Amino acid sequence: MPVLSAQNLSYSYKTKYQTVQAVKDVSCDLNAGTFYALIGKSGSGKTTLLSLLAGLDTPQSGAVLVNGQNLREMDVDMYRRKQASVIYQSYNLFPLMTVRENVMYPLKLLRHSDAGAKNEAQDALKKVGLDESYWKRLPAMLSGGEQQRVAIARTLAVHAQIILADEPTGNLDTENSAQIIGLLSGLAHEENCCVVVVTHDSEAAKAADIVFRMDSGRLKEETA
Ligand SMILES: Nc1ncnc2c1ncn2[C@@H]1O[C@H](COP(=O)(O)OP(=O)(O)O)[C@@H](O)[C@H]1O
Ligand SMILES: [Mg+2]
Repeated sequence: MPVLSAQNLSYSYKTKYQTVQAVKDVSCDLNAGTFYALIGKSGSGKTTLLSLLAGLDTPQSGAVLVNGQNLREMDVDMYRRKQASVIYQSYNLFPLMTVRENVMYPLKLLRHSDAGAKNEAQDALKKVGLDESYWKRLPAMLSGGEQQRVAIARTLAVHAQIILADEPTGNLDTENSAQIIGLLSGLAHEENCCVVVVTHDSEAAKAADIVFRMDSGRLKEETA
């Protein structure tokens, strides 16, 4: 069974003057252990589709199934804390928390003990290559690539099954981008996660097992 399944998803933004249909009748099955790239022009609906899969928005029609269960019938807050983790271009770290506190934060929400959260956080940080010398720094004292690695450690620490990344390398140079893509593909292939990466980076798309293209709200699988 796919971990995540989109069934005829549609989503429109309605403003006072117009309606923009951002996602049109999109269906796909996404599996564990697979690294997906989602490409397409700016404005084609990639971020909107990711938001629907992440439970941040509710489709006007169609359904998102998580391990076969309709997201509408699930506790969406718990889904977002435990199962699905979103990574953004702008890292979205808490600026006044240390690196370690940032990674511990979702674990605290899940009511892990302080000591347990600290251990999990440190293990995750080591996995993304950030040793002890980073743990007590604030995000502003890190490079962009390092900040993105903290964001990845945060998803590693909760053992999220689904990783949704929206242009995670958009602010990074080639070398740092390659590192981030390597980590994300490792999450798919070594930790058995379902990883979806929205990207403009052709290297990232090359690393993917399956490439989807959004075109004016519609989704198509690219064939090599
Ligand atoms: N909050 C919003 N209100 C109105 N229109 C929006 C909003 N967010 C996105 N859109 C429109 O929806 C379409 C898809 O946007 P988006 O999903 O952000 O595309 P992409 O991520 O591929 O650039 C675009 O036409 C965009 O202008
Ligand atoms: Mg976008």
